[in-house]
Amino acid sequence: MILAPSILTADFLRLGDQVEAALAAGVRWLHLDVMDGRFVPNISFGPLVARALRPLATRYDAILDAHLMIVDPERYLEEFVAAGCERITVHVEACTHLHRTVQSIHALGARPGVALNPATPLGALEEILPEVDLVLVMTVNPGFGGQSFIAGGLDKVARLRQMLRARRLDAVDIQVDGGVNSETIGPLRDAGATVAVAGSAIFAPDRGVAGAIGALRAALGERR
Ligand code: DX5
Ligand code: ZN
Repeated sequence: MILAPSILTADFLRLGDQVEAALAAGVRWLHLDVMDGRFVPNISFGPLVARALRPLATRYDAILDAHLMIVDPERYLEEFVAAGCERITVHVEACTHLHRTVQSIHALGARPGVALNPATPLGALEEILPEVDLVLVMTVNPGFGGQSFIAGGLDKVARLRQMLRARRLDAVDIQVDGGVNSETIGPLRDAGATVAVAGSAIFAPDRGVAGAIGALRAALGERR
């Protein structure tokens, strides 16, 4: 399973050090939670932070994964790709013309993902599934780190994996995001998730970043 730390809960006074600690612990996927205060009730950061982290990601051959929790995300696709994001995930609920937005991400040379809020049914993916590299199943209501895992997410991941298998789209990643920790990460992997986003489980101040990553790997039965 790929671990993708969400920097939203990192200590922004020392963001570079914290991200480097995660990279040094073997992480190669950084999850950037972009929030506009309209699609979600919080404002986080924009392409500036991706641009700041790009040299560090390059040094470790890691990717930047922009999770756009913003209305009309097509307005900013170019800026996030230019800032160095290889993955761009947009919310189904935020796109009037989702197919066109996904095509635009492809055209910019990035790999598109689509995200579903907890109450959005998998049926919303029917037509777009063959066009994307990743589906992000939100296991909290978006907007904040440190929330509790929504248990229904487990079954949703399992149903999505079945859906992908039935359509011979097994290569599509299922990314889970929100409340992922040592208790939930194993069942999520077993249900078919392939990328685990974790914020507070990795950057919570009570333990070091490397130790937190090791604990998640141990929960997966992997070498720490
Ligand atoms: C929430 C974000 C998540 C969140 C994860 O809107 O999309 O990535 O930061 O934080 P934790 O792992 O603490 O739930
Ligand atoms: Zn996220």
